[in-house]
Amino acid sequence: MIRLTFMTDARRVIGASTPEGNARRFALLPPALPQVMSGLYAAAAVAVGGRSVAGAAQPVLSASTKFILTTDPDQAAAGELAHAAVCANYIDLIERFRDSEEELNVIGGLTVFRMFLHHADRLDIAETSAAVPGDLVFDDWVTAGFDVTVVDEWEGGRTLRASRPEGAAARNKRSAMALYDVMFNWNRPRDAARLFLGEEYRQHNPHVADGPAAFVEYFERMAGEYPGKRVTFKRAVAEGNLVALHCHQHWPGDHDYAGIDFFRFDDAGRIVEHWDVLQVMPERSANPNGMF
Ligand SMILES: NC(=O)c1ccc[n+]([C@@H]2O[C@H](COP(=O)([O-])OP(=O)(O)OC[C@H]3O[C@@H](n4cnc5c(N)ncnc54)[C@H](OP(=O)(O)O)[C@@H]3O)[C@@H](O)[C@H]2O)c1
Repeated sequence: MIRLTFMTDARRVIGASTPEGNARRFALLPPALPQVMSGLYAAAAVAVGGRSVAGAAQPVLSASTKFILTTDPDQAAAGELAHAAVCANYIDLIERFRDSEEELNVIGGLTVFRMFLHHADRLDIAETSAAVPGDLVFDDWVTAGFDVTVVDEWEGGRTLRASRPEGAAARNKRSAMALYDVMFNWNRPRDAARLFLGEEYRQHNPHVADGPAAFVEYFERMAGEYPGKRVTFKRAVAEGNLVALHCHQHWPGDHDYAGIDFFRFDDAGRIVEHWDVLQVMPERSANPNGMF
């Protein structure tokens, strides 16, 4: 089981990109927040980013296993925390904890939340009523297909819980977004294929050949040619064994595209067929509505 825990405000701001910005931010947080967060953080195992390790030092996590996500094998911070280990490949944690009774609580920051979002079973969110200054926005979860309920209200904010709806359609939606996320945003098409594709993968995009190996080869090439490319999901619809995703693709140095992808799933929940239509994002429009 994978859970994400974070604090945010109604604008979905979760942090600041500078230490000064974060200090300003912390000074304005409601006094009740540390206690609320400490209740939500408690877990036998947590995952934390190399730039957010301070969050794993709190007393409630003193006995927890801490996986510090960093691609730097000499990450010094791991040595200063009890029960800490460096993890250079977040996919290893996903494979270990998804579909497991064991719980992994992902406690930030922004990059790490995005790594795990589409694999998360639950989000625990402390939301302040007042806006708190900051420039790091985490809003991907709003359109990721969770059911959100209010579980508690406290002075200065409330606690939300976002859970996955039951059933194959919801599971397929989540897998389609996760496939795309791992392959496109994290540039790990081999991991994406391992986690989500069937042995056969029928392709209708004319640039890519059939099968998982061709999918990996094509997107490894795209990862090299377009570092920093990014997809965000605007809408996801599931019916029967099909999922449709309405996406914004950003290709640095090239056009942005509005796209619709269709994925077909087999009975085991693996993706076995793909279609897409892509439209260059126009510079002008006859209406004020934008492409999404
Ligand atoms: N509101 C909240 O609840 C909350 C909670 C925590 C943090 N935050 C905020 O989040 C911000 C920090 O977020 P951030 O995005 O800058 O950093 P981050 O999420 O804390 O750290 C990202 C880490 O991911 C590692 N990484 C990149 N690719 C990886 C891969 N494939 N496998 C494993 N690890 C990988 C990076 O490694 P390298 O070290 O090699 O670059 C980096 O250390 C701060 O402003 C902080 O205050 C907010």
